[in-house]
Amino acid sequence: MLISLVAAVDQRSGIGRDNRLPWHLSDDLKHFRRLTMGHHVLMGRKTYESSQGKMPGRKLIVLSRSAGLLASDVKIVSSLEAGIQFAQAAGETELFIIGGAQVFAQALPFADHIYYTEVHADAGADTFFPDFDCTQWKEISRQDFPSGPKNDFPFSILHLEKTNL
Ligand SMILES: NC(=O)c1ccc[n+]([C@@H]2O[C@H](COP(=O)([O-])OP(=O)(O)OC[C@H]3O[C@@H](n4cnc5c(N)ncnc54)[C@H](OP(=O)(O)O)[C@@H]3O)[C@@H](O)[C@H]2O)c1
Repeated sequence: MLISLVAAVDQRSGIGRDNRLPWHLSDDLKHFRRLTMGHHVLMGRKTYESSQGKMPGRKLIVLSRSAGLLASDVKIVSSLEAGIQFAQAAGETELFIIGGAQVFAQALPFADHIYYTEVHADAGADTFFPDFDCTQWKEISRQDFPSGPKNDFPFSILHLEKTNL
């Protein structure tokens, strides 16, 4: 099973503000939907709460240390390893790990691919993608999008592959 991170990151490595995405990028949301449709997606409890109900057709795995979190439509796991094992046991071919910051930081060492949206702006974020060593990643593709009525900022979608794969 491949493990892929999917993140949208601004010029200061920002990914979120006030537990929300600090932008609306319609074409990036379409890319996210196409990529993850039908697959398991793993996320932290805060990201789940901020995106609730917006991911039909995906099988949700949520990381939480709280026994009190109840949700009928998702699998709750208490460790990253348990989430990965759950997807593997379900026969998943590619698990998408979709944030937020705490989860990206823990999952980076496990990732084979990163779908990395570079947002060409400073969106005033309060939550950040972890530092990572660019030399360990090869750029497979890049697609550029201008800003416009449906995209708050210009951005580029990069597909990165770990060089030692
Ligand atoms: N731009 C992007 O690509 C992107 C993607 C996703 C999210 N975001 C943004 O990121 C922000 C949220 O990120 P965040 O770092 O604050 O929160 P998060 O990573 O979404 O969730 C953190 C929570 O996950 C649980 N958790 C984390 N590690 C765990 C572990 N090892 N074992 C068990 N549970 C664990 C804990 O839940 P409990 O407290 O319940 O124990 C923790 O409080 C929001 O602003 C969101 O909009 C941006």
